[in-house]
Amino acid sequence: MNNVAVIGSQWGDEGKGKIVDWLSSEADVVVRFQGGHNAGHTLVINGVTYKLRLLPSGIVRENKISIIGNGVVIDPWALLEEIEEIRSKGVKITTENLIISESANLILPFHKEMDEIREDIAGKSKIGTTRRGIGPAYEDKVGRRSIRVMDLISKKNLDQRLETVLMHHNAIRKGLGKKLFEKNKLIKDLLDIAPKILIHSQPVWKRIDQLTKNKKKILFEGAQGILLDVDHGTYPFVTSSNTVASSAATGVGCGPQKINYVLGITKAYTTRVGEGPFPTELSDSIGEELGIRGKEFGTVTSRKRRCGWFDGVLVRQTIKISGINGIALTKLDVLDTLKEIKMCIAYELNGKKIDYLPASVEDQIKVKPVYRLFKGWLKSTRGIKKFEELPQNAKDYINELEKFIEAKVSSVSTSPERNDTILIQDPFKSN
Ligand code: IMP
Repeated sequence: MNNVAVIGSQWGDEGKGKIVDWLSSEADVVVRFQGGHNAGHTLVINGVTYKLRLLPSGIVRENKISIIGNGVVIDPWALLEEIEEIRSKGVKITTENLIISESANLILPFHKEMDEIREDIAGKSKIGTTRRGIGPAYEDKVGRRSIRVMDLISKKNLDQRLETVLMHHNAIRKGLGKKLFEKNKLIKDLLDIAPKILIHSQPVWKRIDQLTKNKKKILFEGAQGILLDVDHGTYPFVTSSNTVASSAATGVGCGPQKINYVLGITKAYTTRVGEGPFPTELSDSIGEELGIRGKEFGTVTSRKRRCGWFDGVLVRQTIKISGINGIALTKLDVLDTLKEIKMCIAYELNGKKIDYLPASVEDQIKVKPVYRLFKGWLKSTRGIKKFEELPQNAKDYINELEKFIEAKVSSVSTSPERNDTILIQDPFKSN
């Protein structure tokens, strides 16, 4: 039996919720290891919809342990609100089934304010962040001035650490002509909620060690997608964490060999929210059609997602970067109505053909996609559960896609319903 890491192989929103839901029913433990409440995973179980942002997807199932690792940035108020929201749907959240790393870094109100201030003044060069304070919180983490879950234990510590972090933030706020941030009310507010967070806090690395010794199956639940990775994505139009699979090990405190299978969730076309390069973007009626048929609106910010053709060059690149063993191909049915389907198989840059996305944003904006054309299948694939039952043109598209990206298609999703999936290989059982 494997431990599995699930990650997005594009710019996020690949339909992880449905796949993670299916896998979390098999797992004993579900772990979040990076990102924060910028993520949005929607699960539909027995007709009830759960919108999760910070809580691992295992939380809505009985007898699963859900862990928020040290690599996650936690807005404590957002977390408590989400816990209440999920509890109100009849889900039990206790110290037994929710564990939070004592070393996780907190997102505080001045992080959210800094995110907003920066986006507002950036004009055309804004990133298009979710404005949740994610970037500023990670900056303070690597700047070694962050407040962590464990700091909530002591008023004295909290006071001293806030003094340090606010010296930094207030210098910037002053420079930008903004009101200085006052620490006393924040200390009081944090101490008020501290017990509700601290009861869940533990050394997560130790718990993971125990769980793996006891042969528990772990699902590492990634958020966002590899093209938003701070090292490997379309920098600077990225999020502030490492979204690649290897980040699961640092984000909880275990060795990389504990991740036995990496599943890349991959949409049969491409979408992106926020600003930044997008070589196969469609600004025509086909792009509109994909958006409408695919219901491409953000779960967290409700923003309309940009849509485009499947970019094989990019997905092949993210497969290499993240060591993806197999992909779960999602939203195939969205392509059902198209007469012709295009797949990007190379780029042209300054008159030369290239087979990867260059690292500089200036070049990323300039590349022109080279397409391979496929005949559409013009038949409904919705709900199909066996590969053989797919129209021949859909099979051809999947087979060529698989060859091009150099990774196995382990499942194909043919509707938002959990059971409407063609399962080719179970990630927990294959090596
Ligand atoms: P941040 O993570 O809020 O700093 O946003 C940085 C970039 O990542 C923006 O382009 C966001 O739209 C994008 N982003 C962050 N989280 C998600 C997600 O869960 N899905 C898709 N895009 C995301």
